Amino acid sequence: GDGEPLKVMISGAPASGKGTQCDLIVKKFGLVHISTGDLLRAEVAAGTDIGNKAKDFMTAGKLVPDEIVTAMVTARLSLQDAKEKGWLLDGYPRSYAQAQSLEEGNFRPDIYIVLEVPDEILIDRCVGRRMDPLTGKIYHMTNFPPETEEIKARLITRSDDTEEKAKSRLQIYKQNAEAVSSTYSSIMKKINGNHSKDVVFNEIDSLLSAVKKSKEEAAKIV
Ligand code: AP5
Repeated sequence: GDGEPLKVMISGAPASGKGTQCDLIVKKFGLVHISTGDLLRAEVAAGTDIGNKAKDFMTAGKLVPDEIVTAMVTARLSLQDAKEKGWLLDGYPRSYAQAQSLEEGNFRPDIYIVLEVPDEILIDRCVGRRMDPLTGKIYHMTNFPPETEEIKARLITRSDDTEEKAKSRLQIYKQNAEAVSSTYSSIMKKINGNHSKDVVFNEIDSLLSAVKKSKEEAAKIV
């Protein structure tokens, strides 16, 4: 066969461009995108039990308790499509305990990508970000403005995208970054995320293509 499907983890500070790059990765590699932020926002919007528990933490820019997020992610990773097509995990793990839960469940990535962007730029990206509730597309008022007046009129701002909350999210990210990456240091690839999105994607594309190829080669030997 073609070997085991690709398993990718993407990490980086708030607004480092994870969601933007994941859209491009999915288009090219067909992986199942599992974003804990998106899953949680959907639970909040639907008013589920998980959503009600998560809402206040998210609005405050704090981490949702591990047990809530971990149950949600491991359930999603266990579905057939993720096993068959491979997965792209975005926004998880965010703590040492979350990384350990994945290890225990035998969910191991082939590669751990970290997007690096300077702090001042991250805050500006958060404050300028808008989302299209209809298509899920991510915009930025100056970097990626909406294409039409109609789209512009329906864009929404995330409740955690104020300057103050962006700073708090960044601080929490920094507190946890090392504890999380220690689990994946042998497969970690740092990428400069402070370039245009196409330049960033080209780098990710070459890394993933190389991993994919080596998995296919390995499958031939077996
Ligand atoms: P989550 O949704 O994961 O938020 P985040 O990590 O803060 O990341 P963002 O979604 O803010 O940014 P991004 O890196 O995807 O950037 P984007 O592509 O949008 O989590 C939200 C909350 O959920 C957490 O705070 C927490 O409460 C909870 N949560 C989630 N996971 C959890 C977990 N595992 N445990 C506990 N709690 C959890 O880009 C940002 C902006 O920049 C956009 O406007 C975009 O257009 C622009 N942009 C992107 N790329 C470029 C570029 N190359 N050049 C210029 N502009 C760019």
